Amino acid sequence: MTTSSNKTVTTVAHTNIALIKYWGKQDSELIIPYTSSLSLTLDQFYTQTSVQFNANLSEDRITIDDHVVTGTGSKRVHDFLELVRQESGLNLSAEVNSTNHVPTAAGLASSASAFAALAAAASKAAGMNLSLTDLSRLARRGSGSACRSIFGGFVEWQKGFDDASSFAVPIETRHLNDIRIVALTVEKHQKPVSSRKGMAFSVKTSPYYPTWIKVVDADLANIKAAIKDNDFTRFGTISELNAMRMHALTLSADPDFLYFTGDTLVAMNEVKRLRHSGIECYYTIDAGPNIKIICQQANVKVITYTFSTLFGPTKVTVAKPGPGVKYL
Ligand code: DP6
Repeated sequence: MTTSSNKTVTTVAHTNIALIKYWGKQDSELIIPYTSSLSLTLDQFYTQTSVQFNANLSEDRITIDDHVVTGTGSKRVHDFLELVRQESGLNLSAEVNSTNHVPTAAGLASSASAFAALAAAASKAAGMNLSLTDLSRLARRGSGSACRSIFGGFVEWQKGFDDASSFAVPIETRHLNDIRIVALTVEKHQKPVSSRKGMAFSVKTSPYYPTWIKVVDADLANIKAAIKDNDFTRFGTISELNAMRMHALTLSADPDFLYFTGDTLVAMNEVKRLRHSGIECYYTIDAGPNIKIICQQANVKVITYTFSTLFGPTKVTVAKPGPGVKYL
């Protein structure tokens, strides 16, 4: 088929932290979730990716953080490139070069920024000119949370019911713009159970899963109202609750599993202690032991100081709301 494209396209996408979590797929091939979710794109952690489709290559060549990856390590990227070839009609192998910019020791490398950057670079390099909505749909096929990283600030992934209707939309607001996320890395190593496996197992074995679906609807409506009302207290309270409800699905799976370590619990208790002493902050936790503290600019100093003292200054990174995907 076509052999025309060989331009290199470079993009940058930032990672996002979910405040209302995505945890479970109705369709794992198309990545259609059971629930909608809501996130904040962050300025500190991002992936830069270049893609070139090249007639001189006999197979895809994938380099991540200066290492050529092959076999299972590159399968998800390769499968994604297959999808781009199918959708664009371009039948060439690709050279992919991707670098994750994550502050030292942050342990926050994310499939969200990776697949958002790859979707934007690969589709453009293949000659497609997708709208942001279609880019969000494409990124979703690589990793669900990636569909949210196409946009900056607060973003809602509307679950939809099929490939055409499941995509993210930005929440246009000037509210809560002094929000900060203090990322605390208690553990650098890879999580023992990937989000992909963990959520599938929770759907299959947790008796609480049907309740989660109902509760997320309410949590999402409430957090959107909190953003609209510029109500940080309600925003933080719902975020923390929703994260705990997600982790309850791992505790109630059969057999149960847990992403927290002892240090995660220490950090959670410290957030609560600070809050009770008048420093308003909340936490959220993804599929791993690290915690993200949700606060406002005015309290960043004392929170950073507290957690640097407890865990060491290199473990703490402060992030602000970040931008959507960009072409360089
Ligand atoms: C806990 O987007 O990594 O971070 O779609 O299987 O690639 P796949 O999963 P992924 O899961 C993210 C799970 C989460 C919550 C969230 O980001 O909403």
